[in-house]
Amino acid sequence: MIFNILTIFPDIFAPVETGVIGRALDSGLIEINKINIRDYADNKHNNTDDYPYGGGDGMLMTVQPVVSAWKSIENPGRTIILSPKGKVFDQEKCNELASLKNITLVCGRYEGMDERITEMIADEELSIGDFVLSGGEIAAMTIIDAVSRLVPGVLGNEKGSSRDSHFDGLLEHPQYTRPEIYEGLEVPSVLLSGNHALIDRYRKKESLVLTWKLRPDMIKRRGLDEQEIKLLSEVFPVDRKLFEEMKR
Ligand SMILES: C[S@@+](CC[C@H](N)C(=O)[O-])C[C@H]1O[C@@H](n2cnc3c(N)ncnc32)[C@H](O)[C@@H]1O
Repeated sequence: MIFNILTIFPDIFAPVETGVIGRALDSGLIEINKINIRDYADNKHNNTDDYPYGGGDGMLMTVQPVVSAWKSIENPGRTIILSPKGKVFDQEKCNELASLKNITLVCGRYEGMDERITEMIADEELSIGDFVLSGGEIAAMTIIDAVSRLVPGVLGNEKGSSRDSHFDGLLEHPQYTRPEIYEGLEVPSVLLSGNHALIDRYRKKESLVLTWKLRPDMIKRRGLDEQEIKLLSEVFPVDRKLFEEMKR
């Protein structure tokens, strides 16, 4: 999978070049191709910004350097503009992007971009949340990290991401590692039992309970199967009717 990044700060991507994603880069499972928009500016001082027509605060990225930089990419694939105005990036979008071979991420700076950039090159605009960052680079890194985890082989263990929060529309159950007791706090005994059927049931139930407590909106969106209704009703008997209405 190839990620092309259009940015005026190509040197700040170290966070996605370390750890598990760093190893995927080393092994060639993914590739990150950083393109410095400034190198494509056709003006004397390589400027990439200018004042907004009609007045207003700050500067905007100009069309020419971004579009020329984009045209230099042999196969841009899906072109995504990072923007607080975009659709909010979530696990569903992440799964969709993980099936692509080429993705181009365009990072804005200053007070944003000339609208014609979006018109000319964007397939879609994505936001990483309802807040405003100073630039699209951190948003691009967020998307690269989350999508790369789903590329076969990146986590080493194919099952790795399938247990993560959001993968199945639920939050992950609590996890424990050694020691068995720390300052009087014990690891739930079922996890030490060696009985994998019991452990799976316990984890599924914890995952459902946690999601229902913290993110009931996720359960309402996702629905519940027969077994999940049973598990949740054991903990929240008064909500059984509600769970049954969510049967899928
Ligand atoms: C200071 S912001 C511009 C905000 C713009 N004036 C607005 O109100 O929509 C500069 C750049 O940061 C990036 N950015 C800011 N917030 C973002 C978010 N929530 N998700 C993705 N990118 C974001 C975009 O690339 C944007 O062009």
